[in-house]
Amino acid sequence: MQLFLDTTDTAILKDLAATGLVDGVTTNPTLIAKSGRPMLEVIAEICSLVEGPVSAEVAAMDVAGMLAEGRKLAAVAHNVVVKAPLTREGLIATAEFAREGIQVNVTLCFTAAQALLAAKAGAAYISPFIGRLDDYGADGMGLISEIRAIYDNYDFDTEILAASIRNPAHVTAAALAGADCATIPPNVFQDLFKHPLTEKGLEQFMSDWAKTGQSIV
Ligand code: G3P
Repeated sequence: MQLFLDTTDTAILKDLAATGLVDGVTTNPTLIAKSGRPMLEVIAEICSLVEGPVSAEVAAMDVAGMLAEGRKLAAVAHNVVVKAPLTREGLIATAEFAREGIQVNVTLCFTAAQALLAAKAGAAYISPFIGRLDDYGADGMGLISEIRAIYDNYDFDTEILAASIRNPAHVTAAALAGADCATIPPNVFQDLFKHPLTEKGLEQFMSDWAKTGQSIV
């Protein structure tokens, strides 16, 4: 499973990328706004910090505007993946980008039918929003399973990118459901390392080791 960071915070990205466990990054207009920086500047910096795919979202709602913006974003760095919304216009643009060899992450997916359309349009990634569905009282993880089954039924190459992740349990459940990737807020990514029993067990190991008076090197 590929693990992406859902962030535009380049300081935190640098810190977590140093673990070697960050496979890519996703951004969206809200995260760009939070950065307080020009979009092309922050996307270029993020692309320099990770080798993997970096999703950069178009802001236009019309096909021509999406195509113009997406081509500009794709030109920022080789690892940019253009993000387009799951709308009629977004999928028309996705098909054109695919013809041009530009990878697209189709975002704001909330039904399996939408995911089917995105795969048919040639999306490289589909982003079902688990947390927002759960917030809405729907079954976010169930959507991942539905999309996995449909994509496997028809051998679609589109990768399922579990998004709107709220906690480590979402990451585990998405992996069990067969998502290809998960995009994770930095605070949740940092929580993936942690368990109270790990901390307690390590404390005990260190205490017992200290009593030996030994050193390994
Ligand atoms: O960036 C895509 C998605 O992960 C954002 O979800 O619900 O945390 O805004 P959310």
